[in-house]
Amino acid sequence: MTKKQNDSASIKVGVIGLGTVGQGFVRLLLKEASHLRQRLGFPLVLGAVCDRNPKALSSLALPSGCRATSDSREILADPEIPLVVELMGGLEPARSIVLEAIGAGKSVVTANKALLAHHGEEIFGAAARHGVDLGFEASVGGGIPILRTLRESLAGDRILKVSGIINGTCNYILSSMSRDRVDFGTALREAQRLGYAEADPSFDIDGIDSAHKIAILAAMAFGSPVSLPEIPVEGIRHIQAIDIDFGREFGYVLKLLGIATDGGESIDVRVHPCFLPEETSMLAEVDGVYNAIELLGEALGPLLLFGRGAGGDPTATAVMGDVMECARGIFHNARGQVPALGVPVSLRVVRPLCPLSSITSEYYLRFMAQDQPGTLSYLSGVLGERGISIESVIQKGRQKGGSVPVVVTTHRATESRVREALAIIDASPHVTEKTVVIRIESAPMEGSPS
Ligand code: HSE
Repeated sequence: MTKKQNDSASIKVGVIGLGTVGQGFVRLLLKEASHLRQRLGFPLVLGAVCDRNPKALSSLALPSGCRATSDSREILADPEIPLVVELMGGLEPARSIVLEAIGAGKSVVTANKALLAHHGEEIFGAAARHGVDLGFEASVGGGIPILRTLRESLAGDRILKVSGIINGTCNYILSSMSRDRVDFGTALREAQRLGYAEADPSFDIDGIDSAHKIAILAAMAFGSPVSLPEIPVEGIRHIQAIDIDFGREFGYVLKLLGIATDGGESIDVRVHPCFLPEETSMLAEVDGVYNAIELLGEALGPLLLFGRGAGGDPTATAVMGDVMECARGIFHNARGQVPALGVPVSLRVVRPLCPLSSITSEYYLRFMAQDQPGTLSYLSGVLGERGISIESVIQKGRQKGGSVPVVVTTHRATESRVREALAIIDASPHVTEKTVVIRIESAPMEGSPS
C-alpha cells in the first residue's frame, strides 16, 4: 500500500464468507459506522462482500458502492481494498485466499481456528514476511477477548497455564447431563434441537474444535509452535451419567477442558474431560453454552475470562476489534508493529509437546468389579505396586455373583503407571468391563479462592 492510499480518507474492508459471523460483522459495521468512525478517527467502509451463495448476498441491505460478488478474486485483486476479512471457514479455499491476500500486501482478519491450527506456521510466516497484520481473536472463545489479553495486556508476564471451557456445545451437553440427570444421547439431541450442536456434532463432541482452540492459545501463551496432531484429544461421546453422579458425591463437576501448561523444556497441551472441584474451581461454575478461559500469570496470578464463545453477534465483535486494529495500522502506515503471536516469528523458541504418558494427575477410576471377597484388595494391590496412592473409595450396592461399581480417586500419579495398572486389572477376572478413567484437575490456580 502506498503512502498516497494511506492518506485517503477511509479504509475499505472486503468480507469473504457471509455465514452467521459474516452477516453479524456486516450488520455491526453498517449499524455502528459513526461510532467506529469516532473511535478510529477515519471511516471504515464496506468495500465488497463475497459468498458463493447468492441468497446470502441478497439477504443483506448493502450500501451503494459495496460490491457483492461470488468470486473472492475480485476482492483479492482490488487495490482499493487493503483489508480482507475471511469468514468462510474450512481449510481450502480459505488457506489459499488468506495467503493470496497476505501476498498482495493486505492485512487479514480471520475467525478460522481450523485453518490456523493446521496451517498457522505457514500463515504467520507469510504475514511476517509481507509486513501485514493478521487478526484472529474470533478464532478462540467467540466474543471473549482472550488472544489480545495474552498478546498485549499480559505480554510482560510469563504465562504458566491456560485452561478453558472452549466448546459451548460440549459444555451445554455436560451441564444438562449433570443438571437434568439425562444421558449423553438425550442431552445431545436437545442441544441439536436448540441449534447449539450441528447435525454432525463430531467436531465438537470429539474434542477436535477444542484442540484447534487450545493449539492457538498455547502458541500465543508460550510463543512456541504447537503441532496439532501431537495434542492428545479425548471428547465426551463416551461420558456416562453414572460417572457424573459419582463425581458429584466427591464434590466434582465434569467439564471438557483444553489445558496448556508451561513445563519448562516442553509444553503440556491436551483436551479431555476433567473433574473439577465444585468448591474451589472457577471453571466448575461455568454452565450451559458459555465459555471461560482461566490463565495463570507468574506475576499476575489467576485471571478468568467468561462470556459467549459462539454466535454471530458476539463473534462479530471480536472480528471488529481486529479489523479496527488492522485499519489503524494501514491508515497510519504502521502495519506489522505487533507480531501476530506476540513474538517475532524468527525469535520463537520451539518446544516439544510433552507426551501424555508422562503427565501427572489425580484420577477418578470406576471399576465394574466382581462383588466378592478379595476384589478390593486386588485392585488396591495392583495400584499400590505401581506407586498409585488411593485417596478415597466408594462402593455402591450389592450384587452377589455380579459386578458393582467401585469408584476410586487417587492422589497425583503418572499417567503411564495408571495405564499400566489398568491394563492388568482390565485383563483380570476381577472386573467385568473396561475401567472408566477421568482425570481430576483439583489443584486450584495459585491465588484462586480456596
Ligand atoms: N462449535 C463451537 C462451540 C463454536 O460449540 O463452542 C465455534 O467454535
